[in-house]
Amino acid sequence: PYLHCSLSSPRLENPQKVPTQFLWPAEDVECALDELNEPLIDLQGFFLGDHESILCAAKEIKKACLSHGFFQVVNHGIDPRLIQGAYDNIGAFFRSPLETKLRATKKRGSLSGYSSAHSERFSSKLPWKETLSFGFAASSPDEEVIEYFKSALGPDFGQTGKVYQKYCEAMKDLALGIMELLAISLGVERLHYREFFEDSCSIMRCNYYPPCKEPSHVLGTGPHRDPNSLTILHEDQVGGLEVFTNGKWHKVRPHPDALVINIGDTFMALSNGRYRSCLHRAVVNEYKERMSLAFFFSPAVDKVVRPVQDLLHGDSVFPARKYPDFTWSVFLRFIRESYRADGDT
Ligand code: SIN
Ligand code: FE2
Repeated sequence: PYLHCSLSSPRLENPQKVPTQFLWPAEDVECALDELNEPLIDLQGFFLGDHESILCAAKEIKKACLSHGFFQVVNHGIDPRLIQGAYDNIGAFFRSPLETKLRATKKRGSLSGYSSAHSERFSSKLPWKETLSFGFAASSPDEEVIEYFKSALGPDFGQTGKVYQKYCEAMKDLALGIMELLAISLGVERLHYREFFEDSCSIMRCNYYPPCKEPSHVLGTGPHRDPNSLTILHEDQVGGLEVFTNGKWHKVRPHPDALVINIGDTFMALSNGRYRSCLHRAVVNEYKERMSLAFFFSPAVDKVVRPVQDLLHGDSVFPARKYPDFTWSVFLRFIRESYRADGDT
């Protein structure tokens, strides 16, 4: 494990012992006993334009989003070789010498770069993971991601950049498709969100969780809701993602052909609070390293987030207006500032 932070380094100290900054109170790491048992939503009919299947998928999505904001899709059209290539390439990065990774260190205030222990954001309960993040804007030049890899990590990573350029483009297209299904599920004009997210400004984050000797006292990613609109996550077969629903944590069984979709805070606001932003976390494994690939789909930074008129009618369940208008850039700034003010958030 290459986890390191300014305070302590598991590599320099006893590798059997987790530094205290990574420890969580036992009740926060309480083991999830149950598995979330929900149908995988099949997108084949949607891509074929089959009316019945589209309505059926939208119905399942609605049920999941009203309850906890999480669902899994299969037959999503992403080539499994692209997903495998993404793991192989980023695995090589995370296993490369620390000096190589540190070259890409995330600067304070930046969204892109390599980060471990997140000591700039947290002072205790550090996440047991390393990440590499970078931006993907729908309106940017075709080679944005390739250029990022070459400039931040050096020419050796040009191929990794090519893989991720393709991966992000595929994720963006899928996210726009899911936006159509979300619109249908909410009774909103089908293309409304597709158009709203046309010039999306997303972030791709690759997560690497080293094995941990004390998995019952540590979390890879602490409990949180994603602030963006929609997250498309692929997790490897080790497993570790957990979702909070019905008052307790549930394990999500990894499925190689499935992609996990989380509703984030910004879509919750777009739905005027109807759809839940999913509360989730990732636990670590004692023996195996784990990786996951998260694509955080977000609107263009200056787009005003406001629900469509159809969702503003109040009724006995939903209020007339739940959140004020905001832009993604203002929300991002607010999140960053609150992390800085409260290191443990
Ligand atoms: C995250 O929510 O940021 C990561 C989830 C995972 O690695 O499964
Ligand atoms: Fe998340």
